[in-house]
Amino acid sequence: MVASVVVFLTMAILSVYCAGLEVLPPGPVNGTLGGNVFFKTTINPTTLSAIVWTFGDPPVIIVDFLSSEGPVTGEGYVGRISLDNSTGSLELLKLTIADNGEYRVILRVSDLMYLSNTSLNVYETVSGASITITPNPPIIEGGSVTLTCDAAGFNITREWMKDGHPVSSGDNIILSEDKRVLSIKKRTDSGEYLCRVSNHVSSENASDTVNVIYGPDGMEIRVPNEIEVGQKFTLTCSADSNPPASYTWMHNETEIPGHSPEFTKEKDEYSDSGEYSCTATNDVTGNKTSVVHKLSVKAEGSLTPDGLSVVVITGIVIIVLLVVEVAVSVAVYFIKKNGSNVEPMHRGGSQQHVYENPSPVYENPSPVYENPSPENTSPVYENPSPVRDNTQQNQSPPLPLTDFKSTYDTRIMQ
Ligand SMILES: *[C@@H]1O[C@H](CO)[C@@H](O)[C@H](O)[C@H]1NC(C)=O
Ligand SMILES: *[C@@H]1O[C@H](CO)[C@@H](O)[C@H](O)[C@H]1NC(C)=O
Ligand SMILES: *[C@@H]1O[C@H](CO)[C@@H](O)[C@H](O)[C@H]1NC(C)=O
Ligand SMILES: *[C@@H]1O[C@H](CO)[C@@H](O)[C@H](O)[C@H]1NC(C)=O
Ligand SMILES: *[C@@H]1O[C@H](CO)[C@@H](O)[C@H](O)[C@H]1NC(C)=O
Ligand SMILES: *[C@@H]1O[C@H](CO)[C@@H](O)[C@H](O)[C@H]1NC(C)=O
Ligand SMILES: *[C@@H]1O[C@H](CO)[C@@H](O)[C@H](O)[C@H]1NC(C)=O
Repeated sequence: MVASVVVFLTMAILSVYCAGLEVLPPGPVNGTLGGNVFFKTTINPTTLSAIVWTFGDPPVIIVDFLSSEGPVTGEGYVGRISLDNSTGSLELLKLTIADNGEYRVILRVSDLMYLSNTSLNVYETVSGASITITPNPPIIEGGSVTLTCDAAGFNITREWMKDGHPVSSGDNIILSEDKRVLSIKKRTDSGEYLCRVSNHVSSENASDTVNVIYGPDGMEIRVPNEIEVGQKFTLTCSADSNPPASYTWMHNETEIPGHSPEFTKEKDEYSDSGEYSCTATNDVTGNKTSVVHKLSVKAEGSLTPDGLSVVVITGIVIIVLLVVEVAVSVAVYFIKKNGSNVEPMHRGGSQQHVYENPSPVYENPSPVYENPSPENTSPVYENPSPVRDNTQQNQSPPLPLTDFKSTYDTRIMQ
């Protein structure tokens, strides 16, 4: 052992003359904890008269080889090395963190001396990569949600993907400096998240799914305002919600059986008039949103815009109504006959287009005939004087009501 050290020191001094003759490729060499590394020299197999490998500063001998004596393994390296005596290459086994550092080799080929060094990085392989989501599901929109990516491993870096696309900090996604913590907020952030943890020697993936619970909101109800008796009508209701909302329809104060977002009646009756409300419920949060809409079932052929309705709601008796209808018919006849002579027919001679809105909105429920069918001689009006929202008081010729576009009275209740 003492002899070896002397040889080494001698060679070290001699090596000054050989500086620059590198026999190790540029490093560093990377190894994994518990694994092996191979320090491979660049020289071709030949007869080497001496090989010395040392570690660190001050140098600790790993192996000292003289062609005359064979290899002498340094303390702490017995059973952990394998030396190729024709190239000087060294294999180091069962790496530990303590093996991190600088390695030097001195080779002697007849009269030539080579000195070379390199360094070794021992990395712990990445293991146990995981994503932790806080809070625990259910994740409700609006709260702060964080995804934390952790793993064991030396000098690890992280990359995030969402649904297969790289994630970077943006409007609502915030990634911490070290990319360990990802913060999200919105419903659109639902998806499959993947965190890839890597270091120089290995990588591991962790993934998890985020399901942001939201709604119901964006409530919409599609219902006609007025409809003739005996017609088919459909009420539809929709809301944005995750999970999809469950729906409850009420007519007046009575629940309509079935929890479908759509409700159809093939032949409506007068009793189908009234207030319809649709309530959408998110069954996870219990949050509810409701919309109320009023529907009037009218006598056959009675659907009119402003004019006739005014007559109806001011409670003028049917005879007057009939007179007006006769007058109107005459007017319509004239309009049809005289084509361009339309304007003078409007009261007040206004140029205003008074019939622009085909579906008037009433503040109060529209009056409903209790029995207005033609075979009945004296219809009764339930509500003789409701207040009308429309300021247009002109009586107008009837126009066909073609547009049941949903003009509705919305009330949002949370
Ligand atoms: C070891 O990792 C470093 C990065 O730290 C790299 O530059 C080098 O080329 C790697 N060495 C080998 C032998 O792959
Ligand atoms: C060199 O290595 C070869 C093969 O591993 C072995 O047979 C030989 O004995 C070694 N030489 C010396 C001097 O140890
Ligand atoms: C090799 O040794 C030189 C001089 O001591 C040092 O500057 C250099 O960083 C070392 N190279 C490696 C790869 O360790
Ligand atoms: C850790 O990784 C960074 C970036 O890849 C690198 O710059 C640094 O040198 C590494 N540290 C160690 C001790 O390997
Ligand atoms: C880890 O994720 C990356 C990026 O999506 C992918 O390229 C790689 O194949 C995944 N590896 C494993 C083992 O799933
Ligand atoms: C549920 O309703 C509460 C109270 O109005 C509100 O603070 C919360 O944001 C709602 N939750 C969702 C998911 O819309
Ligand atoms: C609902 O209310 C409207 C108006 O208040 C009424 O005309 C209708 O008959 C009622 N229908 C039912 C089934 O209660």
